[in-house]
Amino acid sequence: MSHTMNPTTITSRGGDPGRPFMTLRGLHKQYGRGAAILEDLSMDVGAGDFISLIGPSGCGKSTLLKLVAGLVSPTSGCIEVEGMTPANARELMSFIFQEATLLPWRTVLRNVELGLELERSLDRGRRRAKAEELLRLVGLGDVATHYPRELSGGMRMRVSIARALATRPRLLLMDEPFGALDEMTRDRLNEELLRLRAEHGWTALFVTHSVAEAVFLSTRVVVLRAKPGRVHREIKVPFAFPRKASLRSDPAFLALVGEVSGALRELHGPGDGGTAA
Ligand SMILES: Nc1ncnc2c1ncn2[C@@H]1O[C@H](COP(=O)(O)OP(=O)(O)O)[C@@H](O)[C@H]1O
Ligand SMILES: [Mg+2]
Repeated sequence: MSHTMNPTTITSRGGDPGRPFMTLRGLHKQYGRGAAILEDLSMDVGAGDFISLIGPSGCGKSTLLKLVAGLVSPTSGCIEVEGMTPANARELMSFIFQEATLLPWRTVLRNVELGLELERSLDRGRRRAKAEELLRLVGLGDVATHYPRELSGGMRMRVSIARALATRPRLLLMDEPFGALDEMTRDRLNEELLRLRAEHGWTALFVTHSVAEAVFLSTRVVVLRAKPGRVHREIKVPFAFPRKASLRSDPAFLALVGEVSGALRELHGPGDGGTAA
């Protein structure tokens, strides 16, 4: 569906303007007979929202993303993406994980082409041309013939992003994609991600342990608490797009980072010096 659309139609999302892009209603998740992982979790996500999920390890962030992707089923509750079940909305989504999950025996270009191989309408030549264009978009046009092992961690993540964008997703699910990168690379990729978002107009669910990254990228930061996982606080991020790197030293930005950090600290009992991660 989405991949046959003209790129300009992707940003004009259509659908029912009164209905959120995605709704989560009273989600419960329990694996087998184990303890409740998520309990009564509800959230509305508007088209074009960039939602960061932040919270202690084990609070169910990855589980939440997998529920939205239809990779696991909720014990009860309901998820709708554009009015569809996750299974039916799968072709609107792409997933990006912390590990770039590239095939080591394929060149960079062929890894990106992988994202396009399900598109029957594309012949080989057009697939290649599209993959080359995506690589240029993420600044990797000149390493197309390299193998993943020849790239830095940041470059591999860029390949992963290019591959995820190949199907022109309307919803990007990202599970700590930059968690393994150094801070400078992470900051640069954050800026690139926002640029790509402006060009493509997807909606995002983004898991991170970095408060500054969450605030820089998001329209809303959702702080989750653990055992069971529920929404502890939702903090709206009011800064206009495009956001410049200099926003990171703006007092209003730092104040919001402080607010999110404070919300995370509330999750620890007194005397518990642990961090959110
Ligand atoms: N497939 C599974 N089977 C059983 N338990 C699981 C499974 N996946 C995750 N869990 C448990 O669910 C909890 C939440 O995990 P996860 O969603 O990965 O949390 P997070 O991403 O916030 O660290 C953890 O206690 C984890 O051990
Ligand atoms: Mg996780």
